[in-house]
Amino acid sequence: MYKSPRGTADILPEDQHYWRHIETRAMEIGRLYGYQRVDTPVFEEAGLFTRSIGEGTDIVTKEMYVFKDQSGNNLALRPEGTAPVCRAYLEHGMANITQPVKLYYFAAIFRYERPQAGRYRQHYQFGCEAIGEAAPTLDAEVIDMAWRFFILLGLKGITLQLNSIGCKSCRPKHLEVLRRYYTAEVSGLCADCKTRLEKNTLRLLDCKKPFCQDAAEKAPKSSDYLCQECGDHFESVKKYLDILNIPFQVNHRLVRGLDYYTRTVFEVHPPEEAAQSALGGGGRYDNLIEQLGGKPTPAIGFATGMERIVLNLKRQEVFVPEIPSPKLFIACLGDEAKLIAMRLASDLRQQHISVLMSSGGKSLKAQLRQANDFAVDYAAIIGEDEIKNHAVTLRHMATGEQQTIPVDKLAQLLG
Ligand code: HAM
Repeated sequence: MYKSPRGTADILPEDQHYWRHIETRAMEIGRLYGYQRVDTPVFEEAGLFTRSIGEGTDIVTKEMYVFKDQSGNNLALRPEGTAPVCRAYLEHGMANITQPVKLYYFAAIFRYERPQAGRYRQHYQFGCEAIGEAAPTLDAEVIDMAWRFFILLGLKGITLQLNSIGCKSCRPKHLEVLRRYYTAEVSGLCADCKTRLEKNTLRLLDCKKPFCQDAAEKAPKSSDYLCQECGDHFESVKKYLDILNIPFQVNHRLVRGLDYYTRTVFEVHPPEEAAQSALGGGGRYDNLIEQLGGKPTPAIGFATGMERIVLNLKRQEVFVPEIPSPKLFIACLGDEAKLIAMRLASDLRQQHISVLMSSGGKSLKAQLRQANDFAVDYAAIIGEDEIKNHAVTLRHMATGEQQTIPVDKLAQLLG
């Protein structure tokens, strides 16, 4: 028997209402903040990701699904959604329309990670990108949007972590002192951190190993090395979040796993913390569009993991409405009744009434049991008498009450 590949999951009918709940709330949030939907391909040129996420990151070095197609093109399954949106922004001349351009997406994301609860090799993200505006009001608006999204979903006890990792001009100084600090600590660091020390020094700050965590606590903080502009920007973002009544914790160890970030970075966490628990995260990426061949263009965005949202909705027992089951089940007795039932089912569906139809051949009792299992509101029974009278016997499944009504009144009664 085949199984779904390790780290992937089927989303079965009994879970679909969670996914529809997330999608409708996400689209509502997109509408409220003036975002438009964009969909990009599942695969892109691998270089797009290597360039934007960064050569030294875990995603690029260990996690990308890279393959050559029949023509020898080097492609990658999308390991994140920001770079493709920026590629689309540039490719379709969106730099020439009124800025900022605000886009949202739902995307399947592929990362070859070690699977565990809430961590998959294929997962889905809802993400938003606002491109072409540098003002800190936009940072606050984007964070507000992420925050309100989780609230709108009904999640409780979430926390927001915030940091600034500076820009091209002030980050080198921080990296230099950080490298010096960690070089003195190198003997105690884990193997991963030892290799990260040269290529991806910032990531040492969010290592989860005990010694490294301890070292990270005492490490030089990016916020102490911000240039005047980055410092002012960070202060403004914090002030605006206060005005918006969004509680946050400044976390000096929050650096994120992708190289394109500048200045503001943030993550939203559920109350039950685990190593891989962030419900969503994002930040500014003011150099990315330029890195991909565009003019210097500031931008900010975030993405949320939909599986982790489902996990937390279940954990918190948030009420999520079920997708309604079909309204009517048609039970029929005999071959002639079956033909009438077929036509009736088709007529009703054309009038937008959802109908299940028995394939016939079973006893009435068995057919009504089926109707009960399918959780329909009503069953319409068609037997010899009903055929003679151009009628159906309509049974209300919850109460068991039955009445005989003319066939042509059925749609009106159910509609
Ligand atoms: P990210 O933090 O790598 O950011 O992913 C965003 C969210 O996707 C995470 O907070 C988490 O909820 C979920 N996620 C990540 N990896 C997995 C996984 N293996 N299994 C299940 N869920 C996962 C980004 O991807 C950035 N592109 C976000 C962004 C948008 N930054 C700016 N704009």
